[in-house]
Amino acid sequence: MAAMNPAVLIVDDEIKLCESLSQILKAHKIPSEYTDNPSEAVSLIKNKSYRLLISDIKMPGFSGIELLEQIKALDNKLQVIMISGYASVDTVVEAMKLGALNFYEKPIDIARFVEEIKQILMKQSHPIIPKDGKIIINDRVMMERWQMATTAAATDAPVIITGESGTGKEHFAAAVHENSRRKEKPFIKINCAALPDTLLESELFGHEKGAFTDAKSDRKGKFEVAEGGTLFFDEIGDMNLNTQAKLLRVLQEKEFERLGSNKVRSADVRFVAATHRNLEAMIEEGTFRQDLYYRLSVICLDIPPLRERKDDIIPLSDFFISLYCSRYEKPVLRLSDEVKHIFMNHSWPGNVRELKNTIERTVIFSKSSEVKREELPSQYQVMMPVEQDTFTSLHDKVDREMVLGALDKAHGNKSQAAEYLNISRKTLYAKLKKLNIEL
Ligand SMILES: Nc1ncnc2c1ncn2[C@@H]1O[C@H](COP(=O)(O)OP(=O)(O)OP(=O)(O)O)[C@@H](O)[C@H]1O
Ligand SMILES: [Mg+2]
Repeated sequence: MAAMNPAVLIVDDEIKLCESLSQILKAHKIPSEYTDNPSEAVSLIKNKSYRLLISDIKMPGFSGIELLEQIKALDNKLQVIMISGYASVDTVVEAMKLGALNFYEKPIDIARFVEEIKQILMKQSHPIIPKDGKIIINDRVMMERWQMATTAAATDAPVIITGESGTGKEHFAAAVHENSRRKEKPFIKINCAALPDTLLESELFGHEKGAFTDAKSDRKGKFEVAEGGTLFFDEIGDMNLNTQAKLLRVLQEKEFERLGSNKVRSADVRFVAATHRNLEAMIEEGTFRQDLYYRLSVICLDIPPLRERKDDIIPLSDFFISLYCSRYEKPVLRLSDEVKHIFMNHSWPGNVRELKNTIERTVIFSKSSEVKREELPSQYQVMMPVEQDTFTSLHDKVDREMVLGALDKAHGNKSQAAEYLNISRKTLYAKLKKLNIEL
């Protein structure tokens, strides 16, 4: 797992000031990085997950305000504090409007400055996930889940995350870990669906040489590798009943043995599990242990499918666009209104993963700065279903024109009009009634 990103980025053309601020923060156990080059700051922000930017307002070439504008477009959750020796009131107001949290005049009141930074970092629920970038959450329902997750993250309580495939269960699990006191320790994933039962047990608990035919040497299991950290049981619903019983024991007694050994080892891991299956239904069927479920489900987080959290669709799209544009070195793309409309109304059976893949493909093939509907893969090309009532009224309108046209041609003769329309007299009467046409 990658090392923790520093929490703070400092940008000031006076490199000496950067150095001393960074030293002061270090003394307060706040890791930071600095640069005297605003353009470098932008590329750093693109590639790392900082939580706070401290920026000078006046720098040669590229002002702090311009920097602020650019970074807010990249990541509007990144908090910003501005500093300056000689800023006009207008500039300060402008910085605040752009979302800067505060403004410090040089020489900086260090005690107040450090205190504010600590407060900001403490209050922030915006997580850092080293592996795959940030977690994007905008929809109200997801905010609630996130609130629960961060509250849960602070405790050692087990968490179960459920949701359809691609909704971000693993991403959420990593976020829980990153926000816990275990974050400096490993986050280890075990995929319970990928391994046959005996192998799964040996993966989990480890084995001694000779425990089974293929055990040529001693081997640590995931419980030992994850010591002090978080063990993420992916697809826990696929674990067989035997292994479930063994897992329950570790949860209850915090102890386990390697296969083929009697030595009891203690397990200090946080349990986070995920599944796309319905565990309660599995309990009914007898394929999942109820006692294990109770132990694991102290905190249950159900991640809704993307179609049920529409307010996440555009922010996630923007995030993936900036991710892939920078990865493939393309200028930043915009989605046309039509594409946004299609995205908002698509059912996203593959959820966030589908959106991420679609955006990656679109970025690779994009030819202009705006993504048009024609550039989307074919499954997004189908006509959007028109809302039922507009559809009905459109249909009525066409009908009305045809009926009136036929009646006109037939000089009001209904039998003839019906013939023109290739319908029976009876159907024509019904249509006249429905369309409120009186003759
Ligand atoms: N809120 C989010 N912000 C940013 N990226 C996300 C978010 N949710 C999911 N992703 C990304 O979408 C992809 C799918 O997410 P993830 O693998 O966590 O889903 P999952 O629910 O575990 O899927 P499965 O059930 O298929 O294992 C990943 O690349 C992940 O990084
Ligand atoms: Mg997963």
